[in-house]
Amino acid sequence: MKLTLKVWRQKNSKTPGEFKTYQADHISPDMSFLEMLDVVNQELILRGEEPIAFDHDCREGICGMCSLMINGVAHGPKAAITTCQLHMRSFKDGDTITIEPWRALPFPIIKDLVVDRSSFDRIIQAGGYISVSTGSAPDANTIPVPKPDADKAMDAAACIGCGACVAACPNGSAMLFVAAKAAHLSFLPQGQAERYQRAVNMVMQQDLEGFGNCTNIGECSAVCPKEISMDTIARLNRDLIVAALKGIEPTVQPAAAKAS
Ligand code: SF4
Ligand code: FES
Repeated sequence: MKLTLKVWRQKNSKTPGEFKTYQADHISPDMSFLEMLDVVNQELILRGEEPIAFDHDCREGICGMCSLMINGVAHGPKAAITTCQLHMRSFKDGDTITIEPWRALPFPIIKDLVVDRSSFDRIIQAGGYISVSTGSAPDANTIPVPKPDADKAMDAAACIGCGACVAACPNGSAMLFVAAKAAHLSFLPQGQAERYQRAVNMVMQQDLEGFGNCTNIGECSAVCPKEISMDTIARLNRDLIVAALKGIEPTVQPAAAKAS
């Protein structure tokens, strides 16, 4: 396959970026999208040019690192897969492909296609955990969990924190990510004690990081590689209402909230 790539190149978040055009020849339809970028980078290196910086780790749909906007769609044209699982046979010979980083204020560009998603880490630090020791695996398994709840918890736990939901949302909302992480714990008995404080704190941190509000547009769920349902957002909103009725205030410290 021969392809024309229009790739966003940007030195860092302080300098303006621009699209640069590259020709990608000798691309096998069986290559993954990231392998195609490897080939392009190898040619750039051989020509003495700076390779394109892009993020990846597992390359098998698990880590959530491969954050690319491909032809305007987070993770590209195929549903329910990450960029690293996308094959070049999804494109036609001669195609022009536009490749951009996630675009959201709380995801500042580090370089080219690489963005800083540590705002997600701070949302988890604000409450996305259970602050008790549940012991070893056999101890944890002594607490019975109804099968339907275990299934729903597992579905929500499938979120890999890739950030595609934010990149796709016109509001730049992180609500699907926050809702998945909150729902995962709220379906389990161990997650009940901190359930409402968790919801309030994680949403407060989301706001402090500069993510937008959810207005139920649904682009998040449409691009999510793990098909996280918007039902999780409804569940989180219900937990926020219960928290308000209980008079639960956020305990997040605003001074510690923003990225340095
Ligand atoms: S909810 Fe889906 S799109 Fe959003 S971070 Fe999790 S896996 Fe990625
Ligand atoms: S590189 Fe890990 S999910 Fe794509």
